[in-house]
Amino acid sequence: MQVSEDRLRSDIEANAAFGSVAVEKGHSRTVLTGTEADRNAREYFCERLRDAGLTVRIDRVGNIVGRWTPESADPDAAPVAAGSHLDSVPEGGIFDGPLGVYAALESVRAMQDSRIEPTRPVDVVCFTEEEGQRFDGGLLGSAVAAGEMAPETALSLEDDAGVTLESALDDIGFRGDGRVAADEWHAWLELHIEQSERLEAADVPAGVVTTITGLSRCAVGITGEANHAGSTLMPDRSDALAASSEFVLDIETAADVETDSDTAVATVGKLDVRPNAPNVIPGRVELSLDVRDIEQESIEHVIDRARTSLDRIETERPVTAEFERPWNRHPVPMSERCRTALCAAGDDAGIETLELHSGAAHDTMHVANVTDAGLLFAPSRDGISHNPLEWTDWDDCAAATQVLGGALKQLACE
Ligand code: CO
Repeated sequence: MQVSEDRLRSDIEANAAFGSVAVEKGHSRTVLTGTEADRNAREYFCERLRDAGLTVRIDRVGNIVGRWTPESADPDAAPVAAGSHLDSVPEGGIFDGPLGVYAALESVRAMQDSRIEPTRPVDVVCFTEEEGQRFDGGLLGSAVAAGEMAPETALSLEDDAGVTLESALDDIGFRGDGRVAADEWHAWLELHIEQSERLEAADVPAGVVTTITGLSRCAVGITGEANHAGSTLMPDRSDALAASSEFVLDIETAADVETDSDTAVATVGKLDVRPNAPNVIPGRVELSLDVRDIEQESIEHVIDRARTSLDRIETERPVTAEFERPWNRHPVPMSERCRTALCAAGDDAGIETLELHSGAAHDTMHVANVTDAGLLFAPSRDGISHNPLEWTDWDDCAAATQVLGGALKQLACE
């Protein structure tokens, strides 16, 4: 079985024309959910599904599924599914999402060409609003498919202008019926660009993801006393920003050297300094803290360290501190069965694979909660994504698709 690089490339290039943005360097598109560009991208995709003999279904939140039920398959058997998303960030690249959607379709076409006889149907999937650019949050279609969000809740989400997802989907003719249910799939696979540089550095065209990192978001507040920058002597100050600076450095050390994990990362990315004036000692600082790793244990370590750092700062400086942890998402391990199928498909095709973790969230994260799921990466040049310079060489796209197709074939014949 051999996937066609030409067919895959022509689909991704055709898709890149929808919402395309003229840029000096690279290739760019803006495809927000429910816009004209989204309608065009979806219509082209449905056409390509039908051209390959798949039956197209649209669910209530606009998720698109093309089902291939070959004669060899039991139409009632749990299907294997693969796909990704077609929406983009504003002025995003042409591979993030579409590669996974069209690689899934190309895998089916390659199976058809070589007269593979799967015992299960194969679903090719496009999830709605993965990027969360118009309707809050992101990973929306997959959250509904995994039963984590009710379709009604998703449909009532509003964009900045007060337009609901429901009416945005109506506008483009893509509000369908029922709900694509991910728990009915025998297994799920997603091919996505890596968005970092590990595959490029290793010169390997396909990465088999072990775990999608967990993420904790915390909110920190440090209160001192605002006062005159000229007339308040140093021993008399209660400087909330100087105290916050110690916290930032403690967090850096905690993630970098104190955990046993090479993959733990922690970031204070946002500071709100008040009153934020050149001649006033900062009286109050609000800080964000974002902690991620593939092991919950090291996330907990950094969070503990954040708390002890604030305790220490409160004893050593005349400030008070608050700490809240409103958001925690555990690491999501990929299924052994899917990982094995992907690695074996690479071996079969003579394509080298590398096992790595994903620092970014993907639709697969939701699907993995309800069925066996696997995530495959293709190299990103210089690790760049969400940018017109996002690029994956066509031969790498094809090699990764070959691995995806091989694994899909195996899972569909189980
Ligand atoms: Co993506």
